[in-house]
Amino acid sequence: MEKRRKFDWYVHDRFGMFIHWGIYSLPARHEWVQRYEYIPCEEYLKYFEHFNPVDFNPNEWARLAVEAGMKYLVITTKHHDGFCLWDSQYTDYKVTNTPFGRDALREVVDAFRAQNIHIGLYYSLLDWHHPDFTVDDIHVLKLKENRDELNQGRDMARYREYMFNQVREILTNYGKIDLLFFDFSYPHIGRDGKGRKDWDSPALVQMVRQLQPDILINDRLDYPDSADIITPEQVMLSEPPRKTDGSIAVWEGCHTFSGSWGYYRDETTWKTSAQCIELLINNVCLGGNLLMNVGPSAKGNFDPRAVSRLQSFAAWMKANHDSIYGCTMAPAEFPEPRDCRYTWNPEKHRLYLHIMNWPFEYIRLVGLKNRIKYMQFLHDASEIREISQAIREHNNLMTPTDEHSAIIKLPVIKPPVEIPVIEIFLKE
Ligand code: GLC
Repeated sequence: MEKRRKFDWYVHDRFGMFIHWGIYSLPARHEWVQRYEYIPCEEYLKYFEHFNPVDFNPNEWARLAVEAGMKYLVITTKHHDGFCLWDSQYTDYKVTNTPFGRDALREVVDAFRAQNIHIGLYYSLLDWHHPDFTVDDIHVLKLKENRDELNQGRDMARYREYMFNQVREILTNYGKIDLLFFDFSYPHIGRDGKGRKDWDSPALVQMVRQLQPDILINDRLDYPDSADIITPEQVMLSEPPRKTDGSIAVWEGCHTFSGSWGYYRDETTWKTSAQCIELLINNVCLGGNLLMNVGPSAKGNFDPRAVSRLQSFAAWMKANHDSIYGCTMAPAEFPEPRDCRYTWNPEKHRLYLHIMNWPFEYIRLVGLKNRIKYMQFLHDASEIREISQAIREHNNLMTPTDEHSAIIKLPVIKPPVEIPVIEIFLKE
């Protein structure tokens, strides 16, 4: 009971904003730029020394999130490069020591919370800046040949202490935190890969739960027992992740608008607005959430390409949010018609038919014969009707499955909505 309550907001809200922001927004070549280009810490410091986002306005960020229909935030407090977006007492490598000089995390959290948005924090388990974090195959010093020598003075126990202190800090000084997104474990990657033992995941989880009893923790600690939510990234699942008892796990897919999480000026693989909306529908129709990422620039602005996609979400969600909030996977007795996705609101007893590819005039809804009370488009509440038996026979629309199916008739022209949705009220 208790357990279920803590998930309520999350499985209802379905749609959140991920924000990746740090000093990697200055090179603007991916948040992994330090590792991809093997930039030594001394050289990477130039980004720290020039971080001054004069346009930073978290109220504007929050406004764009709210308008897009997003109900929660997950923001990077520290990414793999080790730079901290808050005023941590445990390091000098933090936002308050850059020319910007302000605690950006506090301002973001305050702005989003003021809009009733739930707050999630991302914390990188990896840290390429910390002198005690041992060199492994993912580290920026990977190519150095004297790894053993380099690692001699490094002590993961001291790093762990630092990490525990920081996690305690972000979970103590910023009010109620609803979600913690640890990233990531790699026990099997190359030499010296890291996981549960290196982070002391059981103790870490215990501390987190003590500090924030209702918090949701993701699944990247190499400690499956502790995971409240499963977080596949940049994949479109065809089946929902399931627990050992067969029930659907609580899960969230995270995605970028383009191929990078951090601001990447020259990246061109931006998804279309329709693709973005499809991601949302495709996750909810498998009982999951969508966490859609924005990587603000070093000036503190959202990329205009991200803004335009957020605006497309806004337009679509304004008209169709009933098919997202409070919805989940439809019961198996209602198989999805070709080119369509169902979501299902169990409380309202309504099915939502998302028509991904506009067909010509008819859609057959298997399993819905004599089950439909009323149907309408979500965007304009105009009625959609089932065709009569006479027309079915006249038009030869009969097939062996017809005993169980309802056939609906659509306008020839697709309505002016990116992905039209039909709301189907079922008889009790
Ligand atoms: C990956 C990447 C990272 C990104 C994260 C988001 O683990 O390492 O850059 O923050 O995915 O899920």
